[in-house]
Amino acid sequence: MKILSVVGARPNFMKIAPFIHAINNFNRTNNEKIEHVLVHTGQHYDDRMSKTFFEELSIPEADINLGIGSGTHAEQVGQTMIEFEKVLKSEKPDWVVVVGDVNATLACSVTAKKEWIKVCHIEAGLRSGDIKMPEEVNRLVTDRLSDLLLTPDRLSSENLRKEGTAEDRIVFVGNIMIDTLETNRVKAEAMSIQDIIHRNLPAGYQLKTAVPADENYALMTLHRPSNVDLKEVFEPIMRFLMDEVTKDLTLIWPVHPRTMKQMRVFGLYDEIVNRLRIILLEPLGYFDMLRLNSGARVMLTDSGGLQEECTILGTSCLTLRWNTERPITLKEHGGASVLVGNNVERIREEYRTALAKERTPIRPQLWDGHTSERCLQAILNVSEKFADKSDHLPISVLERQLI
Ligand code: UD1
Repeated sequence: MKILSVVGARPNFMKIAPFIHAINNFNRTNNEKIEHVLVHTGQHYDDRMSKTFFEELSIPEADINLGIGSGTHAEQVGQTMIEFEKVLKSEKPDWVVVVGDVNATLACSVTAKKEWIKVCHIEAGLRSGDIKMPEEVNRLVTDRLSDLLLTPDRLSSENLRKEGTAEDRIVFVGNIMIDTLETNRVKAEAMSIQDIIHRNLPAGYQLKTAVPADENYALMTLHRPSNVDLKEVFEPIMRFLMDEVTKDLTLIWPVHPRTMKQMRVFGLYDEIVNRLRIILLEPLGYFDMLRLNSGARVMLTDSGGLQEECTILGTSCLTLRWNTERPITLKEHGGASVLVGNNVERIREEYRTALAKERTPIRPQLWDGHTSERCLQAILNVSEKFADKSDHLPISVLERQLI
């Protein structure tokens, strides 16, 4: 069997790493080998957004890099489809495995289905209900097309059922990102905060405050267009951080390239970098982020992945969004996260509540570090089932039949 898996942007890397390790383990212990090809679309290309994760998580270098880079959504998706179609025609895999909800996930699942190749979506069934999010469009299309939908929690399986997805396509496998967290947390927790901060200072940036100890800092990441693309949304959040949060805690903020650009466009950069008790960092590698998260008093973020990691680590998490595709991480489901949108009064209120709260880790069902093995097993099970049905045969086999 030949599996081709796809990554494109930063949040994909921690999901594909354990899947590749599961294939390698399978090949070590079985006579029948799985052939694996890794394709990187190149949506994220900076070392800090991509290469670092490959090195840290022992992901083999991609066999093929499509070199798509930045652009509008249509440019990224369109270019990826054009290049990926060529790859499929030459590689002829039995399965294309896509993860998450980035533009690569959408582009490659559509292209694969048009080539009659089976698609497996890892992290299927998440729904924010907010069609204005590009990721929601990506999730809906990918799930509609996928032959095998591997869900991280039962709420996601339920979403798929409600949309009419056939039961035999849905498999609840747990959260694959937690495999990566569990593999690496001991190593990450041994790291020094001092060292992390000094290694990740942006060029030319002067540290204006002492490096804080565990539980004496807030950690923030912000990159969603809905938070950073409009000055009237971005600036009040910045004022709250600069004027209020820094009275209690040091704010450690690894800045996404999009956000760094906007900070300058809005003329806020100088004021922010000159504030005491704000530490700006370059985008962090996996270990650095995991270490800082495990010692943070509170997390402020609009990232879905961090919401999940906070759940396992027990870090109180203010999610700067009005909705989430990951309700299992919310307080009402026993998690550590609360939706605060981008309204400063709401952020302030929940921030105060979070400061008064103890760290309380929880572990949703099957977030146990073994999801990648279940993902691979699900693909093997389905492959066996479809083995003699021509409408599910990979194009390579069909072509041979036609000749
Ligand atoms: C993408 C994903 C989002 C994910 C996020 C994590 C989609 C629709 N969005 O959003 O789901 O949460 O990644 O980071 O796929 N840039 C660089 N260097 C890079 C990559 C990007 O400077 O290596 C710049 C680009 O020029 C662009 C901006 O960052 O201006 C945004 O990049 P883009 O890939 O368009 O989307 P993200 O906001 O990163």
